[in-house]
Amino acid sequence: MTTLEPVKVGICGLGTVGSGTFNVLMRNADEIARRAGRPLVVEQVGARRDNPDCDLTGINITRDVFEVARNPEIDVVVELIGGYDVARQLVLEAIDNGKHVVTANKALIAVHGNEIFQAAAEKGVIVAFEAAVAGGIPVIKSLREGLGGNKIQWLAGIINGTGNFILTHMSEDGRDFDDVLAEAQALGYAEADPTFDVEGIDAAHKLTILASIAYGVPLQFEKAYTEGISQITSEDIEQADNLGYTIKHLGISCRTEEGIELRVHPTLLPKQRLLANVHGVKNAIEIMGDAVGPTLYYGAGAGAEPTASAVVADLLDVARDMATEHKYRTPYLAFSGINEQGEAAPQVLPMENIVTAYYLRLQAVDRPGVLARVASILSEQGISIEALIQKEATEGELVPIIMMTHRTRESSMNEAIRQLEALADVAGSVTRIRVENLDDNA
Ligand SMILES: NC(=O)c1ccc[n+]([C@@H]2O[C@H](COP(=O)([O-])OP(=O)(O)OC[C@H]3O[C@@H](n4cnc5c(N)ncnc54)[C@H](OP(=O)(O)O)[C@@H]3O)[C@@H](O)[C@H]2O)c1
Repeated sequence: MTTLEPVKVGICGLGTVGSGTFNVLMRNADEIARRAGRPLVVEQVGARRDNPDCDLTGINITRDVFEVARNPEIDVVVELIGGYDVARQLVLEAIDNGKHVVTANKALIAVHGNEIFQAAAEKGVIVAFEAAVAGGIPVIKSLREGLGGNKIQWLAGIINGTGNFILTHMSEDGRDFDDVLAEAQALGYAEADPTFDVEGIDAAHKLTILASIAYGVPLQFEKAYTEGISQITSEDIEQADNLGYTIKHLGISCRTEEGIELRVHPTLLPKQRLLANVHGVKNAIEIMGDAVGPTLYYGAGAGAEPTASAVVADLLDVARDMATEHKYRTPYLAFSGINEQGEAAPQVLPMENIVTAYYLRLQAVDRPGVLARVASILSEQGISIEALIQKEATEGELVPIIMMTHRTRESSMNEAIRQLEALADVAGSVTRIRVENLDDNA
């Protein structure tokens, strides 16, 4: 028997995640009430139109989502409309009206999170966003709670299912990027405009959020380095395979002595690593804590009910925390950039400062001395070659040269690539894919 008053929930947006959240709250109401110690009741839904996937009989529906933010009966506003502008206004208005907020909106949190958390801290309300990163995988909870005793050394993840679906099929079927992208669009895994997914922007939003929680730094999406997968060819995938690697689109954040690395780019991973074996639309994040060592979180990174699972988990947290004191409710302190000793948190490093190994592929004219000229440019930048593949060709023809280097600084590699591309022997641009064994970062 529950003794506390029900928590009254207002859902804004009844699309994929909104309908999933509504249905999970209805279907699992008893289970959820038992866990929260009080019922969670959908008091109102703000949606421009009904969704045939939801039985809305007896539900108070408004076509204006701002009515939900103003409804005095509502305790928690669940923002599931997506985007930046209306969502930001809606969340700020809900906070201003003293409501707790749950959102799945990574773009909103990554770009406007600092402002939103500050407003929430001033009002003493909770803003929860588990579903914003890796859909149904409770990775934010894991970082905050399960790994709470650790100093996080690095984290790396496949945090965009669309990109992983494309790379998986390019790799398994030897197909081209455009071909697999078209299939992903037909299957509903990719948007008509796939830029956010394939160019790494969506992953950078999620990485920004994870890094902020892991290292206690403010959200700094604008400092994240973002490189997409549209330039990866099936030849790169095949050559990487020959060298014992799989190409994955990773979000990587690492704490070094100099600062915080924050980067999303295609990455060669040794085939035997678990992350290299995450296929299709699935997501996975590996986190290295100083006490626990490496831990891996795997599951559905998107979809109506997997994402709803995370939204409802946040609602449960809100229901439990509503009874606690204000200042412990918001993540604002964790994002303030100041640690407990009052010192400034480490800075996000410019991409030129990162240190990693590289896969390079270039097209060179097959004539005497070419390899020596290539090797000399690399050596002048202090870059040593770990492995080299040169295919047979007739003298004077273009031949691909594939190299794996030892770890070096990105700025040295930028300069080496600039010089290589200026060589008369080299045709077109040099393909560069960073290589991560992950263990090296510790
Ligand atoms: N889909 C996933 O698997 C997933 C996973 C993790 C996180 N998320 C995040 O969850 C959020 C929602 O995504 P979704 O996939 O559910 O999107 P969606 O299917 O497009 O649903 C968004 C809904 O919001 C409605 N909406 C937009 N602006 C509105 C407004 N001003 N007033 C009222 N309704 C409005 C849309 O209505 P109309 O239909 O009338 O346009 C639509 O029904 C996004 O922030 C997304 O990044 C999604």
